[in-house]
Amino acid sequence: MTKMTGDLDMVRHSMAWIFKTIIESLTIFAAAVIYFFTIDAELTLWMLILSPPIFIVAYIFARRVRPMYIDLRERLSQLNTTTQENISGNRVVKAFAREEFEIEKFTDKNVNYSAANKKAALVWLDYFPYLETFAQAFNVILMIAGGLYLMDGRITFGEFAAFSSLIWAISNPMRNIGIIINDIQRFFASLSKIVDIYYARPAIVNEHNPVDKRRYEGRIEFQNVSFKYDSAVVLDNVSFTVESGETVAIMGSTGAGKTTIINLIPRFYDVTSGRVLVDGVDVRELELDELRGNIGMATQDVLLFSDTIDGNIAYGDPELPEEEVMDYARLAAAHEFITKMPEGYDTVVGERGVGLSGGQKQRIALARAMAVRRPILILDDTTSAVDLETEEHIQRSLRGLEYPCTKIIIAQRVSTTCEADRILILDRGRLIEEGTHAELLAKRGYYYEVFMLQNEGIGRQVSQHGKE
Ligand SMILES: Nc1ncnc2c1ncn2[C@@H]1O[C@H](COP(=O)(O)OP(=O)(O)OP(=O)(O)O)[C@@H](O)[C@H]1O
Ligand SMILES: [Mg+2]
Repeated sequence: MTKMTGDLDMVRHSMAWIFKTIIESLTIFAAAVIYFFTIDAELTLWMLILSPPIFIVAYIFARRVRPMYIDLRERLSQLNTTTQENISGNRVVKAFAREEFEIEKFTDKNVNYSAANKKAALVWLDYFPYLETFAQAFNVILMIAGGLYLMDGRITFGEFAAFSSLIWAISNPMRNIGIIINDIQRFFASLSKIVDIYYARPAIVNEHNPVDKRRYEGRIEFQNVSFKYDSAVVLDNVSFTVESGETVAIMGSTGAGKTTIINLIPRFYDVTSGRVLVDGVDVRELELDELRGNIGMATQDVLLFSDTIDGNIAYGDPELPEEEVMDYARLAAAHEFITKMPEGYDTVVGERGVGLSGGQKQRIALARAMAVRRPILILDDTTSAVDLETEEHIQRSLRGLEYPCTKIIIAQRVSTTCEADRILILDRGRLIEEGTHAELLAKRGYYYEVFMLQNEGIGRQVSQHGKE
């Protein structure tokens, strides 16, 4: 955010002010020098004798101050990060009664930034007297050299007067050099940050020309997929197939790699080895917009925009008529609480709107994912925060979706997974079990244990059933 606001503003200021000053100074300087040359070349050269030292001083100053400004921008970034964290995380701070600590942390960053600012300003103070002295020395040289030439009769009084009254046209630009160099250093410090962002290229790019976007069948296949984020292996040789129209549930302990698996389908990341196929084609060979345009997704961390509920549900398809928005809200068991809100579907939510409970947010996100009617629907722990009754309603809705759709549902509850066509159990990046609810119970593995834990009472009956 600092790069996109503070740094950008610095660059804007520079473009508007520094360049104007540079052009203005150069033009005036050049015009004055040319004019002086036509009067008397030798006297002009005497005057210009001061230019090299000014440039040298300015150059040394620039070299010293540049890293300071880069450091300054970095400290400003840190200050802003701390501020932003404190504002968005104020409840956590209060809950842990860490106000003092956070205030200290903020003060620390603040003092840090102020100290760096002062340091840079003091460097300027070191060099300014030299630049100013040199700028004033133009007059002294004119007095001496011009005076001697005048007495010699080499130049007339009129010519001396011309030099004298136009001397500012040389000394002012020279004086400005310091200020300009100072600002240019700030400009480059900010520019380098912006250039980094501007020229950053996504690692995953669309290498295929946009074609008419097709609607996929929704068949998904993982072939020996392994994946690393940096060095840690997150997925290890995972293979499975989801037929078009099937519902597959993925279950597994936290950190097992469930979210990672589904992130590979819309190509948020590319596999380290193996292949992910959609409709039999490697996702790396598909047109990216088309691929993503075929996937409806509700992510684990729900993000709603600062917009009306209606706008949020229709986010993927702004043309969606209001009745349909309501239909999808009903399917996601959200209609009821939405209508109870003061402005119903026009209530603004998100950062700038009213607060919603975790389960309410999840249901709006679910409605948003269903409303795009894509052939692949991915739900990452989308019902974790809703009660069992609501969840059952949602399960029914998912089974009865009026458009053909392959569903991948990540869940921790057996009540969510039991109706799936197949359940995949993931453990530390490896697929350890795969089958239907009944098959996995019979297997007496991880799934069975989870089932027993979640259904203490019914567990015994099922284990008997298993023996039969
Ligand atoms: N952006 C990332 N960079 C590096 N490592 C990551 C990143 N995201 C996840 N991981 C690591 O990858 C592993 C799998 O994470 P993943 O989010 O897929 O787990 P999960 O099964 O979805 O867990 P949960 O049930 O808690 O959501 C974890 O060990 C996690 O630390
Ligand atoms: Mg996850």
